[in-house]
Amino acid sequence: ELALALNEVHQDIVYVDFIDTYQNLTVKTMMIMNWLATYCPSARYAMKVDADIFVNVPYLVRYLQNQGESSQKDFITGSVINDGCPRRNQRSKWYLSKEAYPESRFPPYVSGAGYVFSIDLAKKISWASRYVRPIPMEDVYVGLCLHFLDVQPVFSRTFLPYRNLFEIRHLEYDACTYAQRIIVTGFTPSQLLNIWTDFQKDRLAC
Ligand SMILES: *[C@@H]1O[C@H](CO)[C@@H](O)[C@H](O)[C@H]1NC(C)=O
Repeated sequence: ELALALNEVHQDIVYVDFIDTYQNLTVKTMMIMNWLATYCPSARYAMKVDADIFVNVPYLVRYLQNQGESSQKDFITGSVINDGCPRRNQRSKWYLSKEAYPESRFPPYVSGAGYVFSIDLAKKISWASRYVRPIPMEDVYVGLCLHFLDVQPVFSRTFLPYRNLFEIRHLEYDACTYAQRIIVTGFTPSQLLNIWTDFQKDRLAC
């Protein structure tokens, strides 16, 4: 309802005719890829984030501007998971039957919490999805499409000190900690509004 009310004002939400459930997350993501490929040809990058994510927009923009040629195409970055494998326990939220996915490992994929990709990949992933069998886990599925396309996801991190720039743990709010990350997870909508306001003021002092 909040989304509907806000859309009255900003008109920036796209509605698609399907039932928005966890099982349909992959369907939703492929609809997003298709929409991006159709309506955003002049964008350079797109980002997917979960609803509970803080995004440090200034850092992200600087980070992308500092990437070389290699980030112009076939580029996707986030928190890369290299050692993922299907859960075979039926009680798991991420249960995947051998029929749905026979392999014992997943190819590298970026956590669905938040990832950024060059816009060409929207069309390529959408195309690949015609050949790659759907599974409900959207981030793994994007990884399967990337594998099909022979595209390696890139880990965004710094060394000395080591930081995963797409932070998938929740970190206590501290402007200077958050100033050094692209995303931080685990917020309610009202927390996000408060933190964003504070962050705008406080990050400059770091
Ligand atoms: C996915 O969306 C379709 C179209 O709205 C719907 O028919 C189907 O029941 C949904 N599937 C699940 C598992 O929610």
